[in-house]
Amino acid sequence: MSVLSFLHSQLFVTPPVPTYDFGGQTIIITGGNRGIGFEAARHLLKLNAKRVILAVRAVQRGQDAAEELEKSTGRSGSIQVEELDMASHESVKAFATRMEKVDRLDAVLLNAGMYIHEFYLADGYESHLTVNVINTVFLAFLLLPTLRSSADKHRSQSRISFVSSDRHVMFSLPEWKEEKPFEFLSDEKRAKMQERYMISKLMLILLVREMAAHVKDSDVIINTFTPGYCESGLIDDIKGVARVVLDLAKKATARTTEVGGRTLVAAIVPWPESHGKYLNDSLIDDSALSPFVRSEEGSQAQQKIWKDLLEILEQREPAVRSLISP
Ligand SMILES: NC(=O)c1ccc[n+]([C@@H]2O[C@H](COP(=O)([O-])OP(=O)(O)OC[C@H]3O[C@@H](n4cnc5c(N)ncnc54)[C@H](OP(=O)(O)O)[C@@H]3O)[C@@H](O)[C@H]2O)c1
Repeated sequence: MSVLSFLHSQLFVTPPVPTYDFGGQTIIITGGNRGIGFEAARHLLKLNAKRVILAVRAVQRGQDAAEELEKSTGRSGSIQVEELDMASHESVKAFATRMEKVDRLDAVLLNAGMYIHEFYLADGYESHLTVNVINTVFLAFLLLPTLRSSADKHRSQSRISFVSSDRHVMFSLPEWKEEKPFEFLSDEKRAKMQERYMISKLMLILLVREMAAHVKDSDVIINTFTPGYCESGLIDDIKGVARVVLDLAKKATARTTEVGGRTLVAAIVPWPESHGKYLNDSLIDDSALSPFVRSEEGSQAQQKIWKDLLEILEQREPAVRSLISP
């Protein structure tokens, strides 16, 4: 996506208010307590979702959000708050185990994400890699069996959608050539933290494409999308010149949080054609992927980081490969 097409989207395209009826459905939103995830929850409740599960790292913040959602939509008893810390694979596993007991699970919005410039390790890897990439894909793996059995039972179509970002176009990933890219990128001495958020979203896009290549759309629809640049708390911890630039861009071009929330909802409407695809302005638009993602080198990088990720995940869940194809 070029700067011009980014500006066109931001200034001239407003994704429509979703109208699909989610009646009877249960949907998980990670990081649903604020930002665009919160607004997606509000839309889903208005669109008759039977249950919206807010998967949050601070339960109190989740309960406050649930209260606000109940007040503004008039829907009570439809929101479930569950603890989930994406910085911990133990928390991810415990959450996925609890989700095995829900009577129905139709869709998962993998929305929780972080953007900072400080380096720290979480779960053994640089924190963006852990939160935005490794544990996000791990959670998708672990929820596959529950999504499948729910789809069988209710004759429905399961969906997983990953919130990535149009900012992935800013960088390529030369580190894919390293023996263990995730470990290499987790070395503080080498880490370029100004780039890290964008790199994490690029890696996520590559992994989603590879995951979708291993899962049939008739099994679970898997896609990824950019919500565009939206007002939210995402850049609150960025300081200095970068913050000034981001604030100016926000003032001039950002979508409201509510409009951002529409794009999350659009991504989980059952839409088999979206499987393995990237959505921009709520439409399938692989042409908005970076030239790197679409290149032969991007495809090699995709397979390499997939292999590296599976080796990491196997240490956490030995049966992880069997979750992909039952
Ligand atoms: N806003 C944009 O312009 C934009 C553009 C492209 C992509 N995105 C993506 O959209 C997603 C949502 O971001 P947002 O803009 O709504 O930002 P936000 O207001 O900062 O919301 C981020 C959400 O993620 C949660 N979160 C962060 N770390 C977590 C962790 N370790 N475990 C569980 N939850 C965690 C936050 O929880 P707490 O409240 O506990 O911190 C919060 O609910 C992110 O993946 C972001 O990268 C946003």
